[in-house]
Amino acid sequence: MPTTAITGSASGIGAAVATALRAAGHRVIGIDRGNAEVIADLSTREGRDAAIAQVLELSGGVLDGLVCCAGIGVTAPSCGLIVAVNHFGVSQLLGGLEGALAKGSNPAALVIGSVAAIRPGTEQEPMTQAMLDNDEARALDIANTLGEPQVAYACSKYAITHHARRLAATWGAKGIRLNVVAPGAVETPLHDASRNDPRFGDAVRAFVAPLGRNGHPEEIAALIAFLQSQQAGFIHGSVMYIDGGMDAMVRPQRV
Ligand code: NAI
Repeated sequence: MPTTAITGSASGIGAAVATALRAAGHRVIGIDRGNAEVIADLSTREGRDAAIAQVLELSGGVLDGLVCCAGIGVTAPSCGLIVAVNHFGVSQLLGGLEGALAKGSNPAALVIGSVAAIRPGTEQEPMTQAMLDNDEARALDIANTLGEPQVAYACSKYAITHHARRLAATWGAKGIRLNVVAPGAVETPLHDASRNDPRFGDAVRAFVAPLGRNGHPEEIAALIAFLQSQQAGFIHGSVMYIDGGMDAMVRPQRV
């Protein structure tokens, strides 16, 4: 029975992934702020260290899968928190659990990015570079000083996607697959909170994908369950948009 750790397992996409992987026969180690096998706060270095230590203990140091779903949106209490959870909460876990994945059977890891990462200019933002330099204090400081949650969110998702693709060469050589799934709007508590926020509600409602509807967590989980399966054994280092056609509509020239 494969063992897979899932962050953000208590809600939304992460909860749907936990259900899908359990149905596919995985033993799931959920990680979240509550209602999970491992209770941890992924916004701090200490919280992430504690999560990694508990996962290693529960798994006996051998993991077949890791799915990083935990994240916070534009209604977060601060921009620094968005960067801390969405970027460093993923990058530190990938690093801390790489050794356990290397010992797993057909190991595969997955990061949830976002179509928000395609926001023009995101790759040039100084906070993006600070994230890619693994300078957490600087990245949080820039994000908090700028004080624009939608920029912090887009940059956090761009940087973690770039980080994951940067790891593809070395992880591939160790036999660990690593992919990114980039959803568009998906009906979860995170999306609900943005839609109901007076600052962002209008923009969220206006951002309608060509398919004319939002996604459901189960649709994202079905793709992730496939990517984590052996049927996807040659898919590595890829970024997959699952967004009702949003990316194609906004940047049709990108192939
Ligand atoms: P959600 O709010 O339903 O679930 C997120 C989970 O992450 C929650 O269980 C929450 O407790 C956990 N989490 C947040 N901060 C944490 C922390 N500091 N420590 C530990 N756990 C923490 O949200 P949803 O929509 O399921 O989001 C999952 C991922 O999908 C996120 O990375 C989000 O950015 C991404 N995403 C969501 C989209 C959407 O429209 N819902 C679109 C694109 C990406």
